[in-house]
Amino acid sequence: MNFKDEILRRRTFAIISHPDAGKTTLTEKFLLFGGAIQVAGAVKSNKIKKSATSDFMEIERQRGISVATSVMSFEYKNILINLLDTPGHKDFAEDTYRTLTAVDSVILVVDSVNGVEDQTRRLMEVCRMRDTPVIVFINKMDRDGKGRFDLLEEIEKELNISLHPMTWPINSGKEFKGVYNLHDQNLRLFSANTKAEDDETVSISNLNDAELDEMLGEKDAAILREDVELVDGVNGELNVDDYLKAKVSPVFFGSAINNFGVKEMLDTFIRIAPVPQDREATTREVEVMEPKLSGFVFKIHANLDPKHRDRIAFFRVCSGRFERNKYYHHVRLDKDVRFSNPYSFLAREKSVIEDAYAGDVVGLFDTGNFKIGDTLTEGEDFFFTGIPSFSPEIFKEVVNKDPMKTKQLEKGLLQLTDEGVAQLFTQFGGTKKIIGCVGELQFEVIQYRLLHEYGAAVEFRALPFYKACWLTSGDTKKLEDFTKFKQANTGEDKDGHIVYLAQSEWFLNTEITNNPEITFHFSSEIHK
Ligand code: G4P
Repeated sequence: MNFKDEILRRRTFAIISHPDAGKTTLTEKFLLFGGAIQVAGAVKSNKIKKSATSDFMEIERQRGISVATSVMSFEYKNILINLLDTPGHKDFAEDTYRTLTAVDSVILVVDSVNGVEDQTRRLMEVCRMRDTPVIVFINKMDRDGKGRFDLLEEIEKELNISLHPMTWPINSGKEFKGVYNLHDQNLRLFSANTKAEDDETVSISNLNDAELDEMLGEKDAAILREDVELVDGVNGELNVDDYLKAKVSPVFFGSAINNFGVKEMLDTFIRIAPVPQDREATTREVEVMEPKLSGFVFKIHANLDPKHRDRIAFFRVCSGRFERNKYYHHVRLDKDVRFSNPYSFLAREKSVIEDAYAGDVVGLFDTGNFKIGDTLTEGEDFFFTGIPSFSPEIFKEVVNKDPMKTKQLEKGLLQLTDEGVAQLFTQFGGTKKIIGCVGELQFEVIQYRLLHEYGAAVEFRALPFYKACWLTSGDTKKLEDFTKFKQANTGEDKDGHIVYLAQSEWFLNTEITNNPEITFHFSSEIHK
């Protein structure tokens, strides 16, 4: 297959959801369709059980699973699908946000009983920042959920997106009878535990056919007719271009656990989902079909074995072809590097690959050369833009309990923050090291890993900050004065960018009003 066709047959995406909505179950059904796994239950949930927040074995187990299932590649109808996994636990949300920078589209799973939940909102915000095309799967139709119209309205309103139903449900819960495919105009009747190879649909050329009454009963047939008229009248055919521009989201109804409604979605996905896209870089736009390799690291995973400090860097190929043992230019370090054992991932197996194309994710062995956002090229100097860090929500001071281990502690802090586990700030007017995280669980992970991997014992002291903002100004004197007067609330991040640590929304708003010459940024772009 030629270079161009290789890229055109790739689709790289992530499934996102609030925990428990059914992401793992849906992932597994996709893999079954793709023949990547043979039996249900092969994909372990990457959830950290609610009761196990302090159980480090659980965290380690979770880390093991998430490396293995980080990227799942499979083929379906000659399309090569790269499915990137995202952590379910909200404390690891930052990891999920970064993974979303490496995909070309997403499938959002919504639980029909719970509707839009917290995490759903935040994840959609990140998708919107990048105009990522979204397909919505409304799951658990076999349970008594919210009404179909109410659900659609809630999703549209809460997530501020425009929906386009592709299938339409006939009842829900015990009365769930199936879905009508508005695009193909056929009916799939619900049966629990549909097999991957089952492909039984009833084509309905005319909804007014009496056959429909026989199949669904008069009442449900009448409701379906009415619904379809209403929905079709409003929507018409899906405008694929609008979907690709993230202006409209196709919606499917189904039940992942019963493998119902999944195939319709997968078939549509391979038909409409975007191929690997061109990407904006600091100096120019990089076209996916350029023959020279370029790509970036969006995630770094530490080895499970503390005796080996090597890590796996997840590298998204953005253009060209990646080859084993070829020298590439590491832009930040300005040095040439090559990889003798690049990995591709497939469910639980890792295998060494010879080459990879734009759209693929390659696992690179790393001994500390990489941090999030690093770029490899064939010589040109640029970074990809749009890989932001968001403000942490909990801030704590690092207290070194063993001064003899200061060096190890510093190294550990740098390496863990390179991995993106947390953000590190140094307060001005002192050397106070401040760790910022999205969730409490991460502090436990950091404390544990500093001790076990670096031999450094630390404690954390809570700090009264609620948000970090990155500051810029055209007036350097103003910025200098601000940091001088607000020493207790200012510092720098690891890359030397100035940050303001706000105690409360009130303080933040006051400073914004009082300092019009200074811009307060709520996320930092790693590379602008
Ligand atoms: P997540 O990855 O989004 O966190 O969700 P996951 O797939 O683990 O699913 C969460 C729970 O919802 C699981 O039950 C799963 O079996 C169930 N589920 C998924 N899809 C459907 C569906 O279509 N209908 C119904 N009724 N349930 C569904 P659990 O009891 O938490 O776990 P398990 O013991 O069944 O694995």
